[in-house]
Amino acid sequence: MARKIVSVIDGRAASDAPAGSLMSTNPSRLTDVVAEVSLGSAATLAAACAAAKRAHPARADIPPPVRGRAISAVGRIVEANQKALARLITRELGKPYSEALGEVQEIIDTCDFFLGEGRRLYGQTVPSEMPDKQLFTFRVPVGSVAVVTAGNFPVAVPSWYLVPALLAGNTVVWKPAEYAAASAMALVELLQAAGLPGGVLNVVFADGAATLGGLEQALRAGTLDKIGFTGSTAVGALIGELAGRHLQSPCLELGGKNPMVITPSANLALAVDGALFSGFGTAGQRCTSLGTVIVHESVHDEFLGQFAAAVSAAAVGDPARDVVYGPMLDQKFASRFEEYLGWLQPHHKVLGSSGIGKISGANPRAGFVGDSEVGLFYHPAIVDGVRADDALFRQETFGPIVGVMTYKNLDEAITLANAPGYGLSSSIYTSEPRDVFQFRRGISAGMISVNNSTSGAEAHLPFGGNGKSGNGSRQSGMWVLDQFTRWQAMNWDYSGQLQKAQMDVTELAADMDFRLTT
Ligand code: UN1
Repeated sequence: MARKIVSVIDGRAASDAPAGSLMSTNPSRLTDVVAEVSLGSAATLAAACAAAKRAHPARADIPPPVRGRAISAVGRIVEANQKALARLITRELGKPYSEALGEVQEIIDTCDFFLGEGRRLYGQTVPSEMPDKQLFTFRVPVGSVAVVTAGNFPVAVPSWYLVPALLAGNTVVWKPAEYAAASAMALVELLQAAGLPGGVLNVVFADGAATLGGLEQALRAGTLDKIGFTGSTAVGALIGELAGRHLQSPCLELGGKNPMVITPSANLALAVDGALFSGFGTAGQRCTSLGTVIVHESVHDEFLGQFAAAVSAAAVGDPARDVVYGPMLDQKFASRFEEYLGWLQPHHKVLGSSGIGKISGANPRAGFVGDSEVGLFYHPAIVDGVRADDALFRQETFGPIVGVMTYKNLDEAITLANAPGYGLSSSIYTSEPRDVFQFRRGISAGMISVNNSTSGAEAHLPFGGNGKSGNGSRQSGMWVLDQFTRWQAMNWDYSGQLQKAQMDVTELAADMDFRLTT
């Protein structure tokens, strides 16, 4: 029998299902139901925000080093449960087990970074213009935070929000992807085991419309102070609009169409490894997945030959075994991927597999690992001959598909790399330092890899994008603290009189007409 998963508000299970329920299934074996998820309504989300808001003052009063100790406990508890959580991610989302272990490691790394931040949540002492007066800054928590996340990184990306938000003294309502509910609930249980009280961490399962409605209700009621969102550009724009109407700036991590530029001096074998991992790892379903390879015309044929050979030979199939990638995350993503395949044009040449589209008995993949009929498995596709006006070039294509096009000079490559208007991750393969810095200066992306793939950002660098990839907010490392705290400035005048800034300031005499006589 599938496990039943329900929202948790104020430490209590909300066992009603006002919006019905949904089955979270194993995408590599669709008959395996992982969980039955009760879906809340807009009112459920709004009630959770109200609970978080009520819990906030007490949370903010806990000294930050004590909160840091709780984050340390989370890290150790997650570490002790790393394999179990990774197995669940593999089962529920089809992420290969080694990648799932890496995903859980990213939570541990995030906790390891922030546990010390509890003792380092520094403010400043700042000199005043006047005597007997001191200036100070304090970081204060924002309040109640709603975190809305996707299921491709069902626990690591949420931890980028949850861990710093909780460390900084906020309370949280987490709305995970419904199709990743069991993995999300496992992380909630691990957080609860570290002693987080009900109300401080609430979790709500709801569909997109109920979520937007609930956020709006909470914003109107004044029970929601910040939204963090990872997901599509289209939904990010709706959330940005909604938050903006309430004078809030959300933290938005959106899609990407991440370019990889390969110059004539590149180590092509290294570039092929990077393109294989970032194009097809996680079945191309990372925000940081490779979109288009922009390869210098002089090395195009050699690169393409090696890349096609590597992709053709890559193990695809059962994510519990040693494969490059497994199934699509969920039926929704499989259906959408089929739409993207409809963007293929006669001028495109598709390489990398023995077929196109869904892998099945009738459309087999040479060397498939396991039984392709039982899950949502798709052929990898390298699409050569992509042009700048192709939909395949301009739009994000979440799935195992990578475009290839050529360029003549680096300026042209940079223009092409920026053209789709996203700006999350990017990569350049070259042996020329001059190319690296020209690329860095010209690229609009928030993240640049040199001789490394577009995927695999480390958990303590700023993660985030520009343009259609986000609103400039950054997650991870110390930078995310600016999302979950506000600077408060205090001045303290102990002179016993009113000293007016800018007006009562002592001038030191200076002879401005002084000139050297040499
Ligand atoms: C995402 O796809 O939303 O950099 C996050 C990476 C991972 C995180 C991806 N560490 O590929």
